[in-house]
Amino acid sequence: MFLKARILIGEIYIMCGIVGYVGKKSVVDILLNGLTKLEYRGYDSAGIAVSVDNKIEMYKEEGKLQNLKNLVEPKKDYLKSSTMGIGHIRWATHGAPNTINAHPHSCTCGKLVIVHNGIIENFKELREELKNDGCVFRSETDTETLAHLIAREYGKVNNLTDAVRLATKQINGAYAICVMHQDVPNTIVATKRNAPLLVGIGQNEYYVASDVPAIIDYTKTAVYLDDNQIVTLTPDSMKLINSFSVELQPHIETLPWESVSLSKMGFKHFMLKEIHEQPSIIRNLLSGKIIADNQPIKLDEVKLDLDTIKKLDRIQIVACGTSLHAAMIGKYILEDFCGISVDVEPSSEFIYRKTTTNDKTLVIGVSQSGETADTITAVKQSKKQGSHILIITNRPDSTMAREANSLIPVNAGIEVSVAATKSYMAQLISFYLLALHIAEIKGSIESAKLMALKHGLITLPEKAEEILDHKKLIQEIAKKYANFKNFVFVARGLNYATALEGALKLKEISYINATGYPAGELKHGPIAMLDESMPVLSIMMKGMVYDKILSNSEEAKARDARMIALTNSDDEKLNDLFEDIIRIPDVDEYLSPIIAIIPLQLLAYYIAEFLGKDVDQPRNLAKSVTVE
Ligand code: M6R
Repeated sequence: MFLKARILIGEIYIMCGIVGYVGKKSVVDILLNGLTKLEYRGYDSAGIAVSVDNKIEMYKEEGKLQNLKNLVEPKKDYLKSSTMGIGHIRWATHGAPNTINAHPHSCTCGKLVIVHNGIIENFKELREELKNDGCVFRSETDTETLAHLIAREYGKVNNLTDAVRLATKQINGAYAICVMHQDVPNTIVATKRNAPLLVGIGQNEYYVASDVPAIIDYTKTAVYLDDNQIVTLTPDSMKLINSFSVELQPHIETLPWESVSLSKMGFKHFMLKEIHEQPSIIRNLLSGKIIADNQPIKLDEVKLDLDTIKKLDRIQIVACGTSLHAAMIGKYILEDFCGISVDVEPSSEFIYRKTTTNDKTLVIGVSQSGETADTITAVKQSKKQGSHILIITNRPDSTMAREANSLIPVNAGIEVSVAATKSYMAQLISFYLLALHIAEIKGSIESAKLMALKHGLITLPEKAEEILDHKKLIQEIAKKYANFKNFVFVARGLNYATALEGALKLKEISYINATGYPAGELKHGPIAMLDESMPVLSIMMKGMVYDKILSNSEEAKARDARMIALTNSDDEKLNDLFEDIIRIPDVDEYLSPIIAIIPLQLLAYYIAEFLGKDVDQPRNLAKSVTVE
């Protein structure tokens, strides 16, 4: 019964990115440029279909987008006159990541082509049916089914928009699609359900894309499609209808975006650049919110007044991956500063059980992209149960942000590297502002402590800069440990989440088996793994649990583990216990996770770089995880 409720809300399965253009300009560069900006959505294969002299031609290549660019480059002169096309970047769900399965896909005669984000759940049944009708399938994808299905409808109604409308009525699942047909010149038809899609409006031209960066270089005027709306675009017209063929008035918006620079600004990788952006991100986030130690925090985005806050009996935070680690720190400080009980749960777990969120629960969804399927579903479920929804995201224009009653945009700027760094930092700062803001309203924190924390926050950017200035030492340590196959990170209290995040960073970009543990748990099992082949990195921030981690580190050292410390202490004792010590500036224990993560990001980065890994686009991953 519970699962049924979930399906009613609508499941969301999207990876990949799509882009389309119809107008007067040469289309190939527009498509390739757009795909470059969508590469964060996948990089298993890429393809384009363009109309050349009223004939459709397809170019597809497996692997990185660069492979497609290399394929197309020698044809650019020939393709120059083409002014309509669609493109796709893939993160494989159905079918191996090879050229045959790359999009676009076409119908049997090749006249109809389609690009698709999403998963067609009933594709197997449809595929059999279409095969019996004589359709010839070339790939293993669910998408190809849709190409044949739309072509079959087109054969009946001889109208592309209607064919798309009738075909999409027959499919279950999620999709955003762009379709072209050789017999319908200068026309793109696009539609979506539970997957983002927007139409950019230019002068006698239209763009379609999964996300703003793909089109923002060309236009700031756009229409976000709602589910089941179908748009038909020609260079001179945009017609929007619903699934009953009723014409709708498009809601035109101005995109609050600047052109997206994808420059590495002289850094070798985006990840390193993004790590270095963190001091200014902290500064910008605090500016205007903490005006002075003795003035209240200004967080107008949060629409919770004293009465509502008093009525809250708990807070539920839902998130995935790195955002989940930020949420764990959020729980710690919200409970400590505000005296409200807080639960944190991976969204993917939260959505498959009977949860008890209600109108007395504040539900916080945390997501860099705002497009993570599980978190969107978790938030939607809680909204249905009457909870106030607060979203902390780097994408205030995202699907998740649209569900928010209160929205905290973390303003980290576009994050290109798949490994989240600066967005984590911005999420952390947002949690501190939120916790202190609620504590201030409730009067649940001593004023001296509150003032000290506000002051401490303001001093953090300089401390972060100091760490970055001393990155050489971390680079050397990285070289020394790069060839170890396993790594353990330990911490206690607030920094347990820092240990998890440090381990996740190392895992995802270097593929080293790194695990984070609460230091006190080591002796309950993991200590059995320790020997001289296992580096243990202890996060030892001065404060309540410092001595405890010291003892836990002694225990690890006694098992011959290679010991590394990350600390803000100048305690001499550490020199005997640890082989390597990364020292960071002193900071209030409560604020320590904010700067303790920076050396761990750098360590992961330098290890991966030393090993020659693809730092910004690690294998098997995509930036927005929009499938379950
Ligand atoms: O966009 P989101 O913050 O919702 O994404 C959640 C995770 O997929 C993400 O944090 C992932 O774990 C990152 N690759 C971590 O670096």
